[in-house]
Amino acid sequence: MTAVQVCAVSDLREYVPLRVELERIDVAVVRVGAEVFAIEDVCSHADVPLSDGDVEIEDGVCTIECALHGSRFDLTTGKPTGPPASMAVPVYPVEIIDDIVYLKLENG
Ligand code: FES
Repeated sequence: MTAVQVCAVSDLREYVPLRVELERIDVAVVRVGAEVFAIEDVCSHADVPLSDGDVEIEDGVCTIECALHGSRFDLTTGKPTGPPASMAVPVYPVEIIDDIVYLKLENG
């Protein structure tokens, strides 16, 4: 597993997704309070960036909405919380060291 530096915590406005383009994937990085989440930046229903959507807390669960058809995805598991999307979107473990956000990726 490889740790990839993506941004500073101070780059993240709360509830505002930041799109980060990595070598093989694009990731939406989201901060809610002290928690930082990373989810692949593409909806599982169609090729639309999730970083264009709104972030909110729904029944204690942080979710990001697909701006096209409105499915919401749990930022912890990547699973959709409602239709039309039915498949999960990959999420990535995040580590914060000295205000820098790192993603842990399987193959870099
Ligand atoms: S493209 Fe995301 S829910 Fe349809």
